[in-house]
Amino acid sequence: MKNNGKEHMFEKNDEIKSPKGSILLAGGAGYIGSHTAVELLKSGYNVVIADCHYNSSPVIYDRLKQITGVDIVHYNIDVSVEEQLDRVFGENELAAVIHFAGHKAVGESVREPLNYYQNNLSTTFSLLRMMERYQVPNIIFSSSATVYGMENRSPVREDVKTGSCINPYGWTKYMNEQILRDLTRANRRLSAVLLRYFNPAGAHESGLIGEDPKDTPNNLMPYISQVASGRLKMLSIYGDDYDTPDGTGVRDYIHVVDLAKAHVKAVGYALEHKGVETFNIGTGTGYSVLELVHAFERVNHVRIPYRITGRRSGDLAVCYADSTKAQEILGWRAQKNLEDMCRDAWNWQKKNPQGYREA
Ligand code: WQD
Repeated sequence: MKNNGKEHMFEKNDEIKSPKGSILLAGGAGYIGSHTAVELLKSGYNVVIADCHYNSSPVIYDRLKQITGVDIVHYNIDVSVEEQLDRVFGENELAAVIHFAGHKAVGESVREPLNYYQNNLSTTFSLLRMMERYQVPNIIFSSSATVYGMENRSPVREDVKTGSCINPYGWTKYMNEQILRDLTRANRRLSAVLLRYFNPAGAHESGLIGEDPKDTPNNLMPYISQVASGRLKMLSIYGDDYDTPDGTGVRDYIHVVDLAKAHVKAVGYALEHKGVETFNIGTGTGYSVLELVHAFERVNHVRIPYRITGRRSGDLAVCYADSTKAQEILGWRAQKNLEDMCRDAWNWQKKNPQGYREA
């Protein structure tokens, strides 16, 4: 990895010493991976990205260089193919792997379950095989609050029963968690950290990287951003008859930069501990759809036309985290609020109306 010495937007934090070896971000060119790359570099880690750009753009490497000044070592490979991954492990000394490599569209997973099970599990298998071959004992897994299924009451803690997932995407997260749990039981040298994300939103404050949905967005914040920019006409709010203060669904939106910082903490934790540990990564506060819409309008001085439609099947009324464990054990807590998420999402959208496609 080269640092060309050009001025860039952050100072490296020299208090944190890079471990021997780099951190491999498998599927690291996407929304969460790219923000995590920035925060890892900022904290003194070296980063390697492996991604086939199925759901991301190679433009990301130039954007990351503009933010960090670093030419990140990257491989355009399919993480699920062991022979391709072997090169990455062979050519780099790795200290840990962060596993972001997976398909993530809930609706698509219902229509194409085999693709989801095959892809989201085979990426895990090939990563774990390579970790075994090259003696890399640390993995951080991109899990999701979706593993809590329909049966748990918020604020939800890590130790409640998981499962009862409602779509194949959710089951792949659940199954990957189980695989990692079993492996750490069988191999005492292994360390696995399972991060259960709540609802990631926002973008890097530079507006150079952000969320770039391939098709019409399924998630609320990118949908709102595209309505604000005129790319979409109107937001449909999926139900206002839930048992919540204003009747619309309540979620725990977490700024993607806070989420990225949680990965830095998780890497530090994995390097110093063995076994498996699970953490909720959310703010601990729930906001309704209408609260989010109004915050977006207020902060950005835009109007979001909306109409109330029927409920979306599989939606919960309320879901937010008890994030005490991450605070106590990882020393992590969210620092950014809903206004920051709205401002940064809009800044990214305005600067990149067609996502990375225009660049
Ligand atoms: C949030 C709220 C909707 C869109 C999903 C996955 C989860 C994770 C994140 C990621 C809900 C409402 C939404 C719209 C709306 N997966 N809404 N109109 O459903 O909490 O979580 O994304 O990769 O696994 O299930 O997030 O952003 O889709 O919805 O009214 O056009 O906004 O009903 O209350 P969700 P979301």
